[in-house]
Amino acid sequence: MNDIDKTELSADEWDELTFPRAEENDFDRVVDRAISRRGFLGGVLAFGSGAAAMGAGLMSATSARAQAAASRFPFTPIAAQTDATVHVPAGYGWQVVARWGDPLFSDADGYDVAEGGPVEKSDRVFGENTDGMETFSFRGRQLIAINHEYTNRKINLPAAQKGTPANAGDVRKLQNLQGVTVMEIAEDDNGWAIVKDSPFNRRITHNTPMRLVGPAAGHDLLKTDADATGTRSLGTMNNCGSGKTPWGTYLTCEENVNGYFGASGATAQALEAGYRRYGIGPDGWGYDYHKWDDRFDVSKNPHEPHRAGWVVEIDPTDPESTPVKHTGLGRFKHENAEVVLAPDGRVVVYMGDDERGEFLYKFVSNGTYVPGGATEGLLDDGTLYAARFNDDQTGEWLALTPETTGMELAEILIFARMAASKVGATTMDRPEWISANPNAAEAYCCLTNNKNRGVKPNAGGDDTPVNGPNPRETNRYGQIVRWRPQGGDHAADGFDWDLYVMAGNPTVHDDAYAGSANVNAGNLFNSPDGMAFDSSGLVWIQTDGKDSNEGDFAGMGNNQMLAGDPVSGEILRFLTGPKDCEVTGLTWSADRRTMFVGIQHPGGSWPDGTGLPRSSLVAIKRADNGLVG
Ligand code: FEO
Ligand code: CA
Ligand code: CA
Repeated sequence: MNDIDKTELSADEWDELTFPRAEENDFDRVVDRAISRRGFLGGVLAFGSGAAAMGAGLMSATSARAQAAASRFPFTPIAAQTDATVHVPAGYGWQVVARWGDPLFSDADGYDVAEGGPVEKSDRVFGENTDGMETFSFRGRQLIAINHEYTNRKINLPAAQKGTPANAGDVRKLQNLQGVTVMEIAEDDNGWAIVKDSPFNRRITHNTPMRLVGPAAGHDLLKTDADATGTRSLGTMNNCGSGKTPWGTYLTCEENVNGYFGASGATAQALEAGYRRYGIGPDGWGYDYHKWDDRFDVSKNPHEPHRAGWVVEIDPTDPESTPVKHTGLGRFKHENAEVVLAPDGRVVVYMGDDERGEFLYKFVSNGTYVPGGATEGLLDDGTLYAARFNDDQTGEWLALTPETTGMELAEILIFARMAASKVGATTMDRPEWISANPNAAEAYCCLTNNKNRGVKPNAGGDDTPVNGPNPRETNRYGQIVRWRPQGGDHAADGFDWDLYVMAGNPTVHDDAYAGSANVNAGNLFNSPDGMAFDSSGLVWIQTDGKDSNEGDFAGMGNNQMLAGDPVSGEILRFLTGPKDCEVTGLTWSADRRTMFVGIQHPGGSWPDGTGLPRSSLVAIKRADNGLVG
């Protein structure tokens, strides 16, 4: 551990090294048992062709056409790539819409990322490392909200040793370059571009005032010296995946928030269990905020970490609005928030907690959504559940209540992980994005990988499995699980589940590591992460995995985006990203003739060809300007 330079680690790697997890009740064991019993490797463990029919009762008037289209792909798949740029199929083209550091306002013109950029302008530019995104149409304008998950500290602070902040200004700059961008974009003959100085352009950072609402708001555990009410916090951070409400607001999901906190001295003994479960440690993740900003020093502000790790709602149409942290949705390392409506109008939010051995969650509102009606409380007044997957491919959503957990409601929400452990939820291989099929009552979740499952962690780097290599245990490839709620009702307590795909490499392995039958030499990938269904019913899968293109990963190339047919199980590669990048974030223009995709932490000098690599928002269109999803 001491020999490892943490500045080179991803958040996931850092947490895996620092906070190893228990291996009890793990999802792989359940999958393994199901595989051996049902012969999964012969093909997708299918509800198969019945999947689409299941949701027939929920189909909209237009979805029959969409369902028909879902049986085929509108593109010719592309080969894996290892180069330094983006590739899309013949008949499609791509362009960069916004790069990290591009000005949202003309007073930030000339912001130079290579120079590190002035702190005064750092909240007037497009932030770094794009992630989840959603579009909104408002009064004829195209708005887009985009997360900026983290910063490359070495690049943003070129004068600082290893990117470690040397003063409060350095901290402020890092805080400004993360969070969320809301901006107006427009398309002309030259393609899509930022509408600079649009009244809708807005940066939301680690310091933007927020409201805390819901059952935990005002609880003592959320109170600080600066906010004796426990209802007003500052900033949203480590904004990972996204969501969109039926009433047109943006949901941004706080993931690895623990990395920003540290301690200058002793910490409260009574809070230690919570700190440990949520990865709050003395050193943070190298951001060193706590040395320059007392808010992040848990010795001085012991409750501040409880005010991060939530789902935050933003109204993109009102730049003056105060973002809202919804405590009803629980506190954990949120990936994304997939909102669906139950047949009776109740609001259901599916959420994953992306950490090795954590859980899948669901929130069901008490009230119902009525278009145009009041929405207050719909993301807070209700019940939070965690998922249990049974060996027989059934499952239950386990309610997290004072009766089931022995915890008071506010504590259930603030320490949702502990509540879910108490009810015996199934630990998972790092749940990333969840997406619901618009044409069937089913939802999919990317379980990205868990290379350490079954391996005893050690301080040096976990390179020696204790029980010997076992493809199912040392899960380097990941899988996508899907479930169908009982009665086609996402609010129901029970569900059936199977695996849509088990990533693997049949060119290297002939055992479980080969993957499921819908993985072949032409569509190799690992570590599914981002995911979204389009309106035609294709599921788009983005990857954040190993791109060495050798050994276990031979033939997979760079990180990529694929499209899957939920009915046939067929999966085809649509896009490859530049070397070293992660492809994450996906949404569509209002006319569905443009697909927006995020390229996070690219390598080389993409997209400019010279200078620094810059995370960017990319627009993809068909040459014939046809629909793209
Ligand atoms: Fe931010 Fe789990 O990815
Ligand atoms: Ca992710
Ligand atoms: Ca990931």
